[in-house]
Amino acid sequence: MADGFRALVLDEAEKGVSASIQELTDDQLPEGDVTVSVSHSTLNYKDGMILKGIGRLVRNYPHVPGVDFAGTVEASESSEYKTGDKVVLTGWRVGEVHWGGYAQKARVKSDWLVPLPDSMTEQRAMAIGTAGFTAMLAVMELEAHGVTPDSGPVLVTGGNGGVGGVAIGILSGLGYEVHTSTGRPQLADHLKAIGASEIVAREELDVVPERPLASERWAGAIDAVGGNTLASILPQLKYRGAIAACGLAGGADLNSTVIPFLLRGVKLLGIDSVMCPFELRKTAWNRLATELSTESLDAITEIVSLEDLLDLAGKILKGETQGRVVVDLNA
Ligand SMILES: NC(=O)c1ccc[n+]([C@@H]2O[C@H](COP(=O)([O-])OP(=O)(O)OC[C@H]3O[C@@H](n4cnc5c(N)ncnc54)[C@H](OP(=O)(O)O)[C@@H]3O)[C@@H](O)[C@H]2O)c1
Repeated sequence: MADGFRALVLDEAEKGVSASIQELTDDQLPEGDVTVSVSHSTLNYKDGMILKGIGRLVRNYPHVPGVDFAGTVEASESSEYKTGDKVVLTGWRVGEVHWGGYAQKARVKSDWLVPLPDSMTEQRAMAIGTAGFTAMLAVMELEAHGVTPDSGPVLVTGGNGGVGGVAIGILSGLGYEVHTSTGRPQLADHLKAIGASEIVAREELDVVPERPLASERWAGAIDAVGGNTLASILPQLKYRGAIAACGLAGGADLNSTVIPFLLRGVKLLGIDSVMCPFELRKTAWNRLATELSTESLDAITEIVSLEDLLDLAGKILKGETQGRVVVDLNA
């Protein structure tokens, strides 16, 4: 690639931030021992917040957002990577504190990269992206706490979102009975096509529970919504059930009691993808390469350009995007 490359650049503006597509040069890249020619990135919920200047996640401008990317090593001072290696990156506050993936080139610490599994393309890696990687971590955490396909149904909240869609695909592929909640019942057929067998209305869960325990309904849950939804699932988990809490699309509060923990041995499992250790990352990516079907991933993936992001950022924050949004840096 020639010296100049395209990037989406955020600047501080009178009201929040302004975004523009600019031509940058190598001498503007940040510090790092590996330079990557980025082919794909994605739009995650956190990217929506950053692109809209919400939550003061970015402190230094000008800034290149994009919390994940996949591409090919262009230059390396690390013994772990050589020119031509395919790599994927999620987390480590890239796209937030550090320059991210919304550019045709990135320069990062080699410790943050994961080798792309052999059978996985860069586009597929980003169809999974941070959201799908988080879904895999959540599945692994449920498994580690004894939730198996024989334990009973598993609930995935926000099924039409990125974390939700990939979680449904992984769990159904592993043989779980998957229930999913959604605020978009008009997309129920799509959710069934990607592996959900029962649809729960979002409003049903969006209430503070009146009683600390309710009928035992789910052996496990993957929750990307938080707030009342998380609070209303806890009393409905089966004895020794577990819930992996990984998001706050519906709110950050947790209005609950400890009764489900004490009387049912229910487990509340926190999921963090950002600082996740390397060995766990590698395991998760290798499992995603083999255990998530191409069909179920393709069914929830949309490919867009850098320019399209400006409009889509507001939509993901309003829950109006569907599944995974992949950014093709060469489109
Ligand atoms: N812990 C981590 O490391 C980690 C990593 C990645 C993402 N996350 C978090 O996980 C969440 C989902 O991320 P994502 O990228 O999958 O976002 P997303 O694609 O926007 O999905 C979120 C989904 O939640 C549902 N939803 C939206 N607003 C809601 C509301 N007010 N009440 C109830 N449900 C609502 C919608 O699904 P329906 O239309 O089907 O209802 C929406 O599609 C975000 O909070 C994100 O910050 C955390």
